[in-house]
Amino acid sequence: MSTQPIVMSGIRSTGFLHLGNYFGAIRNYVRMQDEFECYFMVADLHTLTTHPDTAQLKHNVHRVLAENIACGLDPDKVALYCQSHIRETSELYLYLNMLAYKGELEKTTTFKDKVRLQPENVNAGLLTYPVLQAADILLHRASLVPVGKDQEQHLEMARNFANRFNHRYGPIFPEPMAFNYGTELVKVPALDGSGKMSKSENQHATLYLADSDEDIRKKIKKMKTDGGPTEPGTPKPDYIQSIFLLMQLVSPSEAIQKFEEDYNNCSIRYGDMKERLAQDMIRFIAPIREKVNQIMADETYLSNIMEKGAQKARKSAQATMEMVRKAMGLVYYP
Ligand code: TRP
Repeated sequence: MSTQPIVMSGIRSTGFLHLGNYFGAIRNYVRMQDEFECYFMVADLHTLTTHPDTAQLKHNVHRVLAENIACGLDPDKVALYCQSHIRETSELYLYLNMLAYKGELEKTTTFKDKVRLQPENVNAGLLTYPVLQAADILLHRASLVPVGKDQEQHLEMARNFANRFNHRYGPIFPEPMAFNYGTELVKVPALDGSGKMSKSENQHATLYLADSDEDIRKKIKKMKTDGGPTEPGTPKPDYIQSIFLLMQLVSPSEAIQKFEEDYNNCSIRYGDMKERLAQDMIRFIAPIREKVNQIMADETYLSNIMEKGAQKARKSAQATMEMVRKAMGLVYYP
């Protein structure tokens, strides 16, 4: 048995991955795969709480898998699998539902947001979304969960469910904690200065890993600039800071230094700077995009990956569920 800490995270299967996902999440996963026992899952069942139409589901699952592999996740190192392929999840979800209270579920921020967004479909799956997420995590007795700030509340709920279970039935689950390298998550600014890059809102202000060279060039060209500083020591406005921040992600340090100097001595030409950023961004995104397309074209490869991941995940899930049933007193034969 492995003594490495266990890592688990889930990726929603809606929308294309963007630069913020890459630098905020996937890069962490790729680093973690060499240091921990990792379970990374495409959350296709969670998707049903908001997208009951499944016509696009298979394609989306394939895309998420391909994107993560193209970014460096290695299916030989991690269990990369699909949530619906692990039936044990549904069983644990059922048991955890008896330990989750209606009041706390109704108070969850993401639930309240969804009620506002889809008042015509406030289904029980939406209400118990955090319970399903807790089942995903606890199923592997994971202690580290690489997620962003928006998932903190769900993680806290998972800790509560785990503690309630342990208290009532015996110590089975470790407390899952959010995990990230470093103290601060890398912030990837939106191209229009409206906060962070995001999956669904504001597609023109977001760079996707699927964007063509032309899309990338156009989006960067449209970024807001001004006439440039006229006095040395002028602080950078937010929209100029964003260009520098994006450069820090993909450009060599000499290039960044040059533009810093130009800014400081008031000779900066933003047109040139954006052109340079576009070039470096294309050099970064194009190989990933091409790799994704190559993987997407090979359905056999994708099915094999999914099955291999599911086998690893099932093994860990089955071991946990045996302990769970026993602890709960649900084993009635000798
Ligand atoms: N709810 C997560 C999100 O919206 C996705 C998710 C599902 C997840 N199951 C998980 C994340 C388990 C971490 C652990 O991004």
